[in-house]
Amino acid sequence: MASRSNTSLAKLSLFLLFAIFLSSSKAYDRHQLKETNLTLYFQDFSSGPNATSAIVTGIPGRVWSFSSFGTIFVGDDPITAGPHMDLPQIARGQGIFTTSSLDGVNAHITYSIVFTNREYNGSTLEIQGRVFNLASAAETAVVGGTGKFRFATGFATFQTVSFDATLFYSVTQCNITVLHY
Ligand SMILES: *[C@@H]1O[C@H](CO)[C@@H](O)[C@H](O)[C@H]1NC(C)=O
Ligand SMILES: *[C@@H]1O[C@H](CO)[C@@H](O)[C@H](O)[C@H]1NC(C)=O
Ligand SMILES: *[C@@H]1O[C@H](CO)[C@@H](O)[C@H](O)[C@H]1NC(C)=O
Ligand SMILES: *[C@@H]1O[C@H](CO)[C@@H](O)[C@H](O)[C@H]1NC(C)=O
Repeated sequence: MASRSNTSLAKLSLFLLFAIFLSSSKAYDRHQLKETNLTLYFQDFSSGPNATSAIVTGIPGRVWSFSSFGTIFVGDDPITAGPHMDLPQIARGQGIFTTSSLDGVNAHITYSIVFTNREYNGSTLEIQGRVFNLASAAETAVVGGTGKFRFATGFATFQTVSFDATLFYSVTQCNITVLHY
């Protein structure tokens, strides 16, 4: 008797668990996904007193540089809506950049775009993937987001639009296409 009621109880809890999964899976409707396109410019200073990116470490006994396997950089770049450095900041690009191919040609990036403008203030987009160190264009995945970009998926393309070797200053254009709710 006891064991039969235990079995019914187990069946009931399984049913309830299933019902909870069913009801929670209805919360989002794929048809309500929006597409958003953004064009952003990363303002990067890789040297000097106001550097926005720096080497964290590299492989002992080897040169540590953009084109040297194993070198890890951290960055916190201001992001603007146009290429000029005096434009107002709309986000920060914060993350890690690791030269990840033995020949030094590719890097792996894990970056958060942390919005500070009025429209997306506090929301983030998470970017991850392979970029080329020396070539001009690259594409990575947008693997997620927070705030207004919850459930974001999409892609980002990057291209260096200017580089000033005396200031170690570069501007990288980034186009993002994301689907989100
Ligand atoms: C966003 O950009 C993509 C190309 O990357 C284009 O196909 C699409 O039409 C654009 N969407 C909007 C809403 O502008
Ligand atoms: C660094 O930033 C400080 C404070 O904003 C500024 O006064 C200084 O001129 C900057 N230095 C360089 C080399 O850009
Ligand atoms: C963004 O949010 C922060 C913290 O809530 C606030 O201090 C700031 O003024 C906001 N910025 C804009 C542009 O709304
Ligand atoms: C970004 O989009 C603009 C306008 O469509 C295009 O001219 C530019 O080449 C794109 N840049 C990147 C890095 O994809």
